[in-house]
Amino acid sequence: MSTAALKIVNYSYHYPDGTVALENISLTIRHGERVVIIGPNGAGKSSLLLGMAGFARGEGQIWVDGVEVGKKTLKTIRRVIGCCLENPDDQLFMPTLRDDVGFGPLNMGLSAEQIQERVDQALSAVGLLAQADRPPHHLSAGQKRVAALATVLSMDPKILTFDEPDGSLDPRQRNGLIELLTGLEQTLIIATCNMKFAYAIGDRVILIDGGQIVADGTPDGVMLDPMLMVEHGLELPS
Ligand SMILES: Nc1ncnc2c1ncn2[C@@H]1O[C@H](COP(=O)(O)OP(=O)(O)OP(=O)(O)O)[C@@H](O)[C@H]1O
Ligand SMILES: [Mg+2]
Repeated sequence: MSTAALKIVNYSYHYPDGTVALENISLTIRHGERVVIIGPNGAGKSSLLLGMAGFARGEGQIWVDGVEVGKKTLKTIRRVIGCCLENPDDQLFMPTLRDDVGFGPLNMGLSAEQIQERVDQALSAVGLLAQADRPPHHLSAGQKRVAALATVLSMDPKILTFDEPDGSLDPRQRNGLIELLTGLEQTLIIATCNMKFAYAIGDRVILIDGGQIVADGTPDGVMLDPMLMVEHGLELPS
């Protein structure tokens, strides 16, 4: 039996102030799946993505490509799973965009030539090659969003997670992002509140609310169920 891309068993996460973000989540994602995680604000989407890559550690167990997430395995895990965080500013901290996108490949020990190739590829993919030498904090909100995406793409991980990657994007950029993401072969796990975007990207939809999984199925099965969607504060994709 092949190893799952991600396996979560009875995972719960409480923030230090006692807020229950996730309760008893169990979930398996196979390699190559494109999973969208939908749910209203505060449902636990971001907390779940943070748990997957060991940025947050709750109770229960999580395996990434067969390796259990824990203090000692974080380095290995982060090579397999690349995370595009909810706030792009958390991923852009170098003097130029080129440095930010090359940061991951540099840490992977790649040669200068390989790094440049990866940077150019990732920046071209998101349409920001012409901005390569600008300071990231001078970019617009939408440009920062896709710049953060490039910092993850440049590492070419087997599994990619994105937290609200469509935020601040204009329709052309959003459509470009849909085309980019649906063209990737990696396992994708994408949290979003934009139902149209979710429907266009996912081949599996997980609906969470109140820190629990309330539905897990095909985009049609979950997102075209008006009762289910409205009950959880969401809308139909069309
Ligand atoms: N740093 C924190 N300290 C305490 N509680 C937090 C913290 N961050 C999030 N929470 C709480 O944890 C729960 C889940 O939040 P989370 O950010 O995972 O939701 P989300 O589904 O990503 O929401 P959104 O759509 O608004 O991004 C919410 O009740 C939220 O208020
Ligand atoms: Mg969130």
